[in-house]
Amino acid sequence: MPIVQADRLARIAAALLKAAGASDEEADAVAIGCVNANLAGHDSHGVIAIPTYIDRIRAGHIVPGAKWTIIQQSPTTTVIDGHWGFGFHVNARAMALTIEKAKTANVAACTVVRQSHVGRLAAYPMMAMREGMIGLATADSGRSPKHVVPFGGREARLGTNPISIAVPSDLEAPFYLDMATSAVAAGKIQLAAVRGEEIPTGWIIDGEGRQTTDPTQFRNGGALLPLGGTEGYKGSGLAAMVEVLCGLLTGLGFGVEPTGRHNDGCFMAVFNVAAFRPLKDFRKEVAEFAHYLKATPPAEGSNGVFYPGEVEYIREQQRKVAGIEIEDATWEKLRALAGDYKLAAELDLA
Ligand SMILES: NC(=O)c1ccc[n+]([C@@H]2O[C@H](COP(=O)([O-])OP(=O)(O)OC[C@H]3O[C@@H](n4cnc5c(N)ncnc54)[C@H](O)[C@@H]3O)[C@@H](O)[C@H]2O)c1
Repeated sequence: MPIVQADRLARIAAALLKAAGASDEEADAVAIGCVNANLAGHDSHGVIAIPTYIDRIRAGHIVPGAKWTIIQQSPTTTVIDGHWGFGFHVNARAMALTIEKAKTANVAACTVVRQSHVGRLAAYPMMAMREGMIGLATADSGRSPKHVVPFGGREARLGTNPISIAVPSDLEAPFYLDMATSAVAAGKIQLAAVRGEEIPTGWIIDGEGRQTTDPTQFRNGGALLPLGGTEGYKGSGLAAMVEVLCGLLTGLGFGVEPTGRHNDGCFMAVFNVAAFRPLKDFRKEVAEFAHYLKATPPAEGSNGVFYPGEVEYIREQQRKVAGIEIEDATWEKLRALAGDYKLAAELDLA
């Protein structure tokens, strides 16, 4: 597998997206968002997705240069239509506006419809975190094809419906949760299939409803299980609530609409810490809390306790230095696209 430095990877991804029709701003938002996911260790949401996004542009499912409009708003709420623009770009603008509203109103929320994939969800709450606010985001796949079975079922009727919450602190690493409500993100199954690896039991079932460790069964009639193993009803319940916030509150609806156009409905909220207690005290106490958790004596065979977001930060520091391993199949796709767009020499991908 080639090992590529983050800045080179971002340059390649942005150049390919621009060649496919994205503006500079859109291409940079998607490329940097994907490479940040690679840096954090979530390769399933990294540059592996670039060829898919370009396929979606070619199919007319993603619209470069799309308008970004407000359907309805109040001083604390906004309903945003992304007109099928890049989710990375549409959602970042939505979060920026929500943060601005929270600077005045202390609490603000928004819903976003008709945008493509938003990628790694943590990117948006972390924008609020950097402003001294608590950011929350949930996303569902609107009425595009579903991948997760409701607990007890054998047919996918839910999305992977992630949740992310980020809070400001005095820690070096950001304190944030960012997780799918399925056993894992669907992209991790795709990644294992591309890499020819087995997956743990408890991630998916095959088309007959049986547990399997073969990731190729996922695209062969199988489905993801909800988070929680034998207590998967909790993951299933969280996913249902995310779908209510992102599918029903947004007006996207539930179930599957036949065109298969990918649609990340989002619900996001921002809470200004200073409206509840002094930000300085809160930041200090979150750091103390994280250290308190980390000081827990480790269980047998464990590497110790990590607070939410810490694992990603450690990987990011390592990958910034060592570079990012890109699986051969993804690298070949990026090279083929560079060839199609006559960029191979310029991007040193000949
Ligand atoms: N846009 C979408 O449609 C979509 C859908 C699903 C998932 N995603 C993204 O996929 C990515 C992966 O999600 P996932 O659920 O597979 O990730 P995951 O299973 O790795 O869980 C990630 C969360 O668990 C924490 N964590 C991981 N290991 C830990 C440890 N040992 N101790 C303590 N905390 C630990 C991480 O800090 C993070 O908050 C996320 O970035 C998510 O936003 C996006």
